[in-house]
Amino acid sequence: MTEKKGKAVLAYSGGLDTSVAVMWLTEQGYDVITMTADVGQKDVDLQSAKAKALHSGAIKAYIFDLKKTFVENYVYPSLKANAMYQGTYPLVSALSRPLIAKTLVDIANKEGAVAVAHGCTGKGQDQVRIEVCATALNPNIKVLAPVRDWHFSREAEMEYAAKHGIPVKANVGSPYSIDDNLWGRSIECGLLEDPWNEPPEDAYEMTANPLEGPDAPEFIEITFEHGVPVALNGERMHGVDLILKLNAIAGKHGIGRVDMVEDRLVGFKSREVYECPGSSTLLAAHRAMETLTLDKQVLKTKRELEVRFAELTYEGYWFSPLRDAINAFINDTQQYVSGTVKMRLFKGQAVVRGLKANKTVYRHDLATYSAGDAFDHSAAVGFINIWGLPVRTWTATYPRHDEAETPIEA
Ligand code: ARG
Repeated sequence: MTEKKGKAVLAYSGGLDTSVAVMWLTEQGYDVITMTADVGQKDVDLQSAKAKALHSGAIKAYIFDLKKTFVENYVYPSLKANAMYQGTYPLVSALSRPLIAKTLVDIANKEGAVAVAHGCTGKGQDQVRIEVCATALNPNIKVLAPVRDWHFSREAEMEYAAKHGIPVKANVGSPYSIDDNLWGRSIECGLLEDPWNEPPEDAYEMTANPLEGPDAPEFIEITFEHGVPVALNGERMHGVDLILKLNAIAGKHGIGRVDMVEDRLVGFKSREVYECPGSSTLLAAHRAMETLTLDKQVLKTKRELEVRFAELTYEGYWFSPLRDAINAFINDTQQYVSGTVKMRLFKGQAVVRGLKANKTVYRHDLATYSAGDAFDHSAAVGFINIWGLPVRTWTATYPRHDEAETPIEA
């Protein structure tokens, strides 16, 4: 008899790894409680995950539809922050991990569990995010990573599963490692590991080949209130529905395919492919809306903080004092970000084609070159005199010796 170690709450997908993890943790003496969440991933069946978890030996199986929570508490802050890691990746997988970690810890606290557990391997960053987030929320919780620690080969795992009567689907063996949710889809491994290889079409699921998208452009309107999208083409709907709809519309036009070499937190570079039809369209629209509604200095500082927000999220510091502080700054700015963006979707590109807002610091009477110009032209003289003062003073003190750009001949 192994000694009883207490309860462990396992993030359970229903796949081979986590099913084997249920048995394995049970053998180690844990009472395993599973947690399966729907964050908008394609292949999710909460009821059958629950049945399978219990069949694999879990003492209890929690299932949650977390799409609304994911959108409101993780996607929206990230959208408000225009967050893209290294300016390119909309943080698809990096955003769901803090939510998964939080849910594991919430259950652990309620159940009096001693540990939380996940099925990540030892090479990725999702392990870092889940563990750093979980212990940030509860420094006393133990984190178990059976798949990282047990050193089973794929075959040994299958054998172990069969021996314990865990039903495993015939291994269809996708050539890629996939993680998806409402905000997009991450595709890694296989052929993609050579950055010279163009990603094959079979890597994509949410997006059409942009070259084969519809031959006519499609115009859409996205309405924001306080930084959050509230309507698509004038129809009000919750963010979950809006993102799902936009994934379909933008996906049809092949929008949001990302192909990059990414600097991983764990120290190496990795070639990564993403599909982000809805998120990349919303991020482009939101960024543009801010240019119409935010003050120049606020915008400048916000753009700097956005980079940090994305890095902190990517690196597992979602629950950290700096992310909290930057989030507070960003939220303050978003009270002004309301209005409608017109986007044109065509052959892989979502382009902003119009902006309007009820309240805006864009002043047509100041901007116009036509009749009604309210800009004080005479004030330019004094302004230029003072604006140029430092550089004139400098040259008067240290004469410049720039050569002529071209021989000066008549
Ligand atoms: N490189 C991406 C990230 O770190 C994708 C991770 C995908 N996760 C996975 N388990 N396949 O956010």
